[in-house]
This record gives sequence, C-alpha cells and structure tokens, in this order.
Amino acid sequence: MSSEINKKYIVHPGGQIQGELRVPGDKSISHRSIMLGSLAEGTTKVTGFLEGEDALATLATFRAMGVDIIGPDKGKVTIHGVGMHGLKAPEKEFYVGNSGTSIRLLSGLLSGQQFDCTLSGDKSLSGRPMKRVTDPLALMGAKIDTTKGKPPLKIHGGSSLKGIDYLLPMASAQVKSCLLLAGMYAEGKTSVTEPAPTRDHTERMLSGMGYAVDVEGSTISITGGGKLTATNIDVPADISSATFFMVAAAIAPGSDITLKHVGINPTRIGVINILKLMGADISLTNEAETGGEPVADIRVRYAPLKGIQIPEDQVPLAIDEFPALFIAAACAEGQTVLTGAEELRVKESDRIQVMADGLQTLGIDAKPTEDGIVIHGGIIGSGEVDSHSDHRIAMSFAIAALQAGGSIQINDCANVATSFPGFVEVASEVGLNIEEIDG
Ligand code: S3P
Repeated sequence: MSSEINKKYIVHPGGQIQGELRVPGDKSISHRSIMLGSLAEGTTKVTGFLEGEDALATLATFRAMGVDIIGPDKGKVTIHGVGMHGLKAPEKEFYVGNSGTSIRLLSGLLSGQQFDCTLSGDKSLSGRPMKRVTDPLALMGAKIDTTKGKPPLKIHGGSSLKGIDYLLPMASAQVKSCLLLAGMYAEGKTSVTEPAPTRDHTERMLSGMGYAVDVEGSTISITGGGKLTATNIDVPADISSATFFMVAAAIAPGSDITLKHVGINPTRIGVINILKLMGADISLTNEAETGGEPVADIRVRYAPLKGIQIPEDQVPLAIDEFPALFIAAACAEGQTVLTGAEELRVKESDRIQVMADGLQTLGIDAKPTEDGIVIHGGIIGSGEVDSHSDHRIAMSFAIAALQAGGSIQINDCANVATSFPGFVEVASEVGLNIEEIDG
C-alpha cells in the first residue's frame, strides 16, 4: 500500500464522458528519463514527468546515489548527469514501493556498479517474480541474491559483466531493458531476442542520447563501454492512463472525449486496435513526434461495442490495458475471448483472477482461464469490489459505474497514486460521479 491511510472509491451510476483532457505523463518514459539522464554527461531537462509514486521511487534512488536532481515541479525535472561511472554507494537500502519497472530495470543498471545495494518493495512487489531478470544477469556475471526468486534483491557490486545472447522466455520490456542497461557495463555485445515486440522506449531513449542500439528483426543489441549525452525529454501523456477515459467514452452513450498529446508508440497502441475491432469510434489528430516518440490527440465518441476474439499479437501491445478492456467487454454485445495473456497473472495483482472476481460480483459472466478470460457482455450491477491494491483494477471498476445499475464501491485504492495522481479530480471533471473516502 502506498500510504498509511487507504482509500475507497464510491462511484455512482450513470453519466457520460465529455471534454478535453491531458492525462499525466507516461510512466515507462518517466522512469527511463531519470535513469538515463542520471548516467548522461551534461544536464537533462524533462518536461511532462509523471509525479506518481512509481517514477518518484526511481527518482529517489538516483538522488540517494548522489545525482543532483531538481524537481519535480509541475512535471519539470532537471537532472545533472554524473556520467556512466559517477554514481555513489547509497547509505541505505532502496525501497521502491509498488514499482516493478524500478526494481527490474535497476537490477540491470546496478549490477554494473562497483558498490553493493539492496532493493525492496511493498507486499505486491515482494510477491513478483525476479528470476526473469536475475537468471540472465547471472549469465552475464552479475551476483544477485533473491529471496526465493522474489524481492528483496541484494546486488553485489564490482562484478565484471560479459555480453550474452539471450532469447527472452516471455515478452517483457522490463527484462529486455534490464539486460540492455546491464549491457552498457558489459564487455562486448549483449543481444536480446524478443518472442514478440514490446515497448521500445529504452531503445529509443538510448539512441536519442547518442548510445548506439542495433535492432535487427526481433534482436536488439548494445555494446558495452559507450556513453550517454544529455538531452531534453518531453514525456507524452500516458496511453495507459488515457485508456480509462477511452473505454469510459466507448461504453457510455452520449460521450465524446479528446485526450491530448498521448504517446502512440506502435508498441503501445494495442488498446486502440482492440477497441476499434470491438466497434469503438476512435480518431487521431495532431499527430507529431516529440523526443523520438510519436504523439497524437485521441478522440473517442460513444458507439455500441461487440465482443471479439482478441488477436494474440495485440496482447504485449496492450498488456497494461486489459483491466479496462475487460470492462469494455462486459459492456459489449456478445462474447470476448482473451488468450495468450498469462503475463497478466504476475502484474501488480493477478489481473485475470481479480478482474474475474470483481466482474462476477457485479453480475457479469466472466470466466478466467489459465492464460486469459472469457467475458459475456451483460448488465453491470452494483456491489463492492476489491482492487487488491492494484491501481489499474481500481480505475477500471471506477469507469464501469458509468454503465452500472447502482453504485460501485471499490476498496484498496491508495495505489492509484502510483500511476495516476489526481485521478478522482480529473475523472470528476469529465463526468464520472466519483467520491474518494478514507478507509
Ligand atoms: C513496463 C513493461 C511492462 C508493463 C509495465 C511497464 C516498462 O511490464 O506491464 O507496466 O516500463 O518496461 P513487463 O515487462 O513485465 O511486461
């Protein structure tokens, strides 16, 4: 849990979503801006930085390693980079809260340092698999102790890393990025081959800061011993946060919302593709490129949705968006089937089980399978659901209330602050009838 006082949402039924809004900055890009900005030579100025708990956890670790970081102040952060070998040993262990991206990417980066350090997190993070990063890092020569394959991780510094060729056993941008960051400190070339494309923000930012990354088909390679040059980074609005309002507008008759300056990197737009297949009315305008990342304004107008078989190639491209997409499926006519998504079981919660439980509580026919779910569109009732301290589950059930027969109470919502600070205020402004209470 992110704070001592937990939160509950009570969301009253009905309403529609209207207006224009810019959701907070992209979480993945915000983490990477701090990591790479800290290791660069020169000063990196970041705008649009996500001031959520996860990205702030990453920021705090680099401050604790002696990097002078000013801000964040209204999304602006100035990082005085210390160069590839300028980090200092921290005085205490790092606590990164709920943040899987912090712990997995840092485990690679910190394996290349001369000092020891320990990374720990909250209850949810302490249950998440880490061998997916520590096994390949061990092949590179890193020395990391896990706690039965889970955090806390103790990283022993001073190892001399060697490049490896690694075939990723699962589609994971965190594992890929971890190995590329370790690869900057390794002798020779580190190559990572992906079973399916995953978000490529690390590769784009490395290239943007002058560190050569070679991409050939599904293999991404980096050679150790290079350096990063500071640059300015404009973080686009997070498509994963925009998703809640895209789905909200897609399910509530009369809705019309425009989400401004959203990152539409091709490795992140599965949610747009899937919603369009379901019949959603989505259009993109003001397409542009900022700091090596494509952006656009996304307009969504209500249109009736139909159930679909979700194409498996879209799964890694929409991996964080499934809790909200399950709400779209619950409001669609007919059956939606998801397969090939076993990774959802090891996110901030088991998102297949937790969403199935909540949907069933609200009267929807939702059957979990080993690697997905089958949802029959129906009538959402009122009830009390538990988010299992998973931010994306909490926000997904909040938007479900737009189409519910009565109020929905969502428990354990404090972690919404990890990715979407101000969600309740923003959601209220565009038409959700939501109250937040302590408890
Ligand atoms: C992320 C990668 C994804 C995603 C997570 C952020 C990243 O995780 O679910 O929210 O920033 O690299 P996996 O690599 O576990 O798929």
